[in-house]
Amino acid sequence: MKIAVAGKGGSGKTTISGTIARSLARKGHPVLALDCDTNPMLGVSLGVGPEETDLLVAARQALDAGDLEHETSPDGIIETFGTSAPDEVRLVVVSRIDRANPGCP
Ligand SMILES: Nc1ncnc2c1ncn2[C@@H]1O[C@H](COP(=O)(O)OP(=O)(O)OP(=O)(O)O)[C@@H](O)[C@H]1O
Ligand SMILES: [Mg+2]
Repeated sequence: MKIAVAGKGGSGKTTISGTIARSLARKGHPVLALDCDTNPMLGVSLGVGPEETDLLVAARQALDAGDLEHETSPDGIIETFGTSAPDEVRLVVVSRIDRANPGCP
């Protein structure tokens, strides 16, 4: 099952995403949470902690910077870029904008 959460700013996307992820994980489902927000805060909602969430490496950013080799498999991407969150949720941050320029979404 794949669940995508989208909506207008401040409508509760991150909160509901974290709640769904942890609820499913507590019921025994393997959960991969992908944070696709350019200001990724899902780690906070998942219980990773604010400081730790700030430090998470974003996959796209790391690859663009040449810090890491491209992974060829989904499992490799999850292993390399993922972090373990409470309730055994696996979190992958997809992208992050460090410094927003004018016109940046
Ligand atoms: N069901 C709810 N009832 C009351 N407050 C809520 C609820 N869900 C979220 N909030 C609060 O609303 C605010 C925005 O929530 P959240 O950050 O989850 O929204 P978002 O859609 O992810 O925002 P953004 O577009 O900035 O990423 C937070 O302060 C959160 O605690
Ligand atoms: Mg959000």
